[in-house]
Amino acid sequence: MCGIIGYVGPQDAQQVILDGLARMEYRGYDSAGVAVVADGRLAWAKKAGKLANLRSELEIAPIPKAHQGIGHTRWATHGAPVDVNAHPHVSNDAAVAIVHNGIIENFAELRAELEASGVTFTSETDSEVAAHLLSRELARTGELLPAICAVADLLSGAFTLVGITADKPGEVVAARRNSPLVVGVGQGENFLASDVLAFIAHTREVIELGQDQAVLITPTRITVTNFDGTPAETNTYHVDWDTSAAEKGGYDWFMRKEIFEQPKAVADTLLGRYNARRELVLDEMRGISPEDLRRINKIVIVACGTAYYAGMVAKYAVEHWTRVPCEVEVASEFRYRDPIIDPQTLCVTISQSGETADTLMAIRHAREQGAKVIAICNTNGSTIPRESDAVIYTHAGPEIGVASTKGFLTQVAACYLLGLYLAQVRGMKYSDEIFTITNELERVPGLVQELLDRAEEIYDLAHQLAGQKHFIFLGRHVGYPVALEGALKLKEIAYQHAEGFAAGELKHGPIAIIEPGMPVFIIVPPSGRDQLRDKVLSNIQEVQARGGRAIVLVEAGDQEAANRADQLIELPHVSTLLQPLVATVPLQLFACELAATLGHDVDQPRNLAKSVTVE
Ligand code: M6R
Repeated sequence: MCGIIGYVGPQDAQQVILDGLARMEYRGYDSAGVAVVADGRLAWAKKAGKLANLRSELEIAPIPKAHQGIGHTRWATHGAPVDVNAHPHVSNDAAVAIVHNGIIENFAELRAELEASGVTFTSETDSEVAAHLLSRELARTGELLPAICAVADLLSGAFTLVGITADKPGEVVAARRNSPLVVGVGQGENFLASDVLAFIAHTREVIELGQDQAVLITPTRITVTNFDGTPAETNTYHVDWDTSAAEKGGYDWFMRKEIFEQPKAVADTLLGRYNARRELVLDEMRGISPEDLRRINKIVIVACGTAYYAGMVAKYAVEHWTRVPCEVEVASEFRYRDPIIDPQTLCVTISQSGETADTLMAIRHAREQGAKVIAICNTNGSTIPRESDAVIYTHAGPEIGVASTKGFLTQVAACYLLGLYLAQVRGMKYSDEIFTITNELERVPGLVQELLDRAEEIYDLAHQLAGQKHFIFLGRHVGYPVALEGALKLKEIAYQHAEGFAAGELKHGPIAIIEPGMPVFIIVPPSGRDQLRDKVLSNIQEVQARGGRAIVLVEAGDQEAANRADQLIELPHVSTLLQPLVATVPLQLFACELAATLGHDVDQPRNLAKSVTVE
């Protein structure tokens, strides 16, 4: 949700910034802008629409070559996505420029106060106040770092601000609260950005900034303070992937590449989780002891979107393996309903980005009530794991397509690990039982690969159904969240009406919308849970009796189910609880191919942003 970058060093700042914005465009693509300081003067350009529009603008009206600058790619909140609302925002004397990510909640009062003192505003954004405030505080303090701290103290809400001024060549300043910011440590150059992707081509050494911290970078110096000016403690880490992970590598879309990366992503997530006695070991459980885990009497999973569906899958597994009651809740609803949480509650939060504001606020609430929080997260150094008691990292590598794919599969895999670990610690399962399940989990990457090898079958189906406007997805048990995920993928990137239902709910209302020819994807549980499977076979008939076209996802060899299908998608055999890891894959491929066939921007679908850092 908005990507921001700052650079200072010997390279062409505009080039570094535009390349960085290109890598962060997944965060927002309503407008883009850049500002630099060259020869003691500020110069800037900004344009509505994708980064390509800004590049064209810079060809028509170039800005001077410089060695220090800031950039922004926007997902609009306050003010329409038009040129004037694009960042950077500039002070009235054209000496200070800022870019902002987040929402400044008290901007209306600040704007009124600034206007009363003679400041002229040129945009409808909440962000512009920060430019005028930084100009004012700079005049008062004479230095960028105390000035940005003073600005931060005046703001409420969520923000990362990055600023430059014509009066301080060689300096870029930033501050953060509830919004991401990392520092890239270079040799004779330094970087600031919302995401390491922005500077991964230049450095893999990263400093993560804590809550309410500010930073000043020069080519050779990085100074981090708290907002009160005291020196701040920081964490430094090395990014263990490189630029190739952030490139399409021959695929047409990042989403397709990420779907095909799933065998490796799942294998990496499962890697190194056992000790010599073949017991599960989750090293990252640091702040939560086995004793803590034995004390809990309730588990609450909070997450959003696809991560929430991963949580729904987890509920079935965790309750089955641990016999501890497990609730799953959409993070944006959680704290507003006054949930019953206490120190015996374990809160599990799932987030690919680690920056989702709704999820962050939910875990803060849970911790305030005394609950321990475990994060399942893909992004090292992000806010959610930093504010949790423990973290299980999914090792999926960067996910750039806005539609989450490898994020989902690795989240589900990590949830299984957590469920089994809880069962082990609480003595609910013998180690050989756990080993049987982890053994099966380890076969999953190979099974996913088998499905990917048959992608053309799914692509053919997408081509056949490209004219359809309505799609239904049905599943029972863990197939239900898979159905929801299949429908979400289609909505997000193909912009088609798609709904997922618990198959048993169909007859309680939704069956009325089925029309002749309507595609209905039905996920059939594998053999072994025959009562469950038989019920879904009946659902196939209910759909067909109303003229619906039953596209049946079922394990190879289930002839009875296959005979009932209008169209068949064969799945490899896995046990019921693990089926989401294979059943989701064809639905991802289907959505990706359908969206591509319809001519949509698969990686940057309309109205969406990858990392949702506002509530
Ligand atoms: O980064 P997170 O996992 O916290 O993101 C949560 C949702 O915003 C995310 O899963 C969203 O629903 C995806 N675009 C779905 O594909």
